Amino acid sequence: MNTHDQLQKISDTHGDSFYVLHEQQYIKNITDLKAACNKHYPKVIIGYSYKTNYIPRLCSIAKTHGVFAEVVSEMELQIALKLGYTYDSIIFNGPYKKESDLERTLLGGSIVNLDSYYELESLKRLVAKHPGASFKVGLRINMSLINEDGTSAIQEGLNIGRFGFDTASEEFSNLISTLNTLGVSIHALHGHTSTSDRSLKNFTTIVKTLCHVRNTFHLDEIAYLNVGGGFFGPMPKGLLNRDTPSFDDYAETIFNHLKKDPWFAAHKPHVILEPGVSVVSNALSFVAKIIDIKKIRGNNFLLIEGGVYNVKPTMHKINLPFKIIAKNKSQNKGTAYYDVVGSTCMEKDLVLSQVEMHHPKPNDFIQIDNVGGYTVVKTPNFINFVPAIVALNAEGSHQIIRNRQTIADVLAPYVLDAHDL
Ligand SMILES: Cc1ncc(COP(=O)(O)O)c(C=O)c1O
Repeated sequence: MNTHDQLQKISDTHGDSFYVLHEQQYIKNITDLKAACNKHYPKVIIGYSYKTNYIPRLCSIAKTHGVFAEVVSEMELQIALKLGYTYDSIIFNGPYKKESDLERTLLGGSIVNLDSYYELESLKRLVAKHPGASFKVGLRINMSLINEDGTSAIQEGLNIGRFGFDTASEEFSNLISTLNTLGVSIHALHGHTSTSDRSLKNFTTIVKTLCHVRNTFHLDEIAYLNVGGGFFGPMPKGLLNRDTPSFDDYAETIFNHLKKDPWFAAHKPHVILEPGVSVVSNALSFVAKIIDIKKIRGNNFLLIEGGVYNVKPTMHKINLPFKIIAKNKSQNKGTAYYDVVGSTCMEKDLVLSQVEMHHPKPNDFIQIDNVGGYTVVKTPNFINFVPAIVALNAEGSHQIIRNRQTIADVLAPYVLDAHDL
């Protein structure tokens, strides 16, 4: 439990708001997910989705726990390499891969999942450029996830997702023939699909589709079946007003279906999972000092430094779990409802809406939990400095993971000349 004194000490040096990293929680999540899968099947690879939160400390922890780096851009690839990942423990996905990145990852032994036909053109040039090399690629398979009531489970209810290949098209059959002719082996199939409901049913469809594609096109060199991410992690009670699947539930669904496929049972390829939010959400909290509380026509507004971009950049309507760390607990008797608002100029900078609290006071701290997914990587330089990240140690000390941004950091990319200064 963080004490007010401990948070005050951090705040004195690192600003009125900052993230707190819970490394042990992150380690528990990745090891629990792996263990849930290994109950069913030994050949499991976990690839951590960098886009979700690429705090280098998290990526390094992943590396020490044998977790692959799942990257989707030149930038993420460079982060992984900088952190000492070797090409053979990198999974390279994403819609845009520069030819030079394709070249180094393919030659280095990464699992590279092609997403579109333009990559084939790059591949043809690379095969011609490196006549002795053996090229292996994965193919991302476009999924249809239509529910019984006709709605789509794909993010935003989109009927047709944009990633991967439409395996029913003639173009796809031609792609397979062209890869054969080029001597490029297809060693992976990838089925990640971002969904709104993260349901078990989606994984049944993904697994069945991957097996179907493998069998239909007789892809005998498949060594990896990749179901992607999109799982729920451990959820705070009551957050969604419904039960969510556990890692055990997902593992059971995935492996029960895979094991029913005769080719899978006979050939035993590796199975890859690419978790993001499920392993990192509860590994980060946002802590902010309460600056002010004001009442407008009966409504209590509680002002903090930072704001909704630090906590939920997508501005969803769910109130995340929070607690108040009061300077003087005995003063805070009784409760009232508050809107927690950020220090930007947006009316809609609503961090928590109508939450009940024990009359917090200025200089108390508020801790908002479960903010690990898509926050640090999506915080814009909008009005405020980007906050520090600290890890709290059990004995009350802290370790700085990222410094709070300074004015020099903000202005560094700009080219300033004499007129500007
Ligand atoms: C290819 C790929 N893999 C894994 C993930 C991680 O998904 P999640 O954070 O939902 O687990 C994503 C996220 O969009 C993704 O695009």
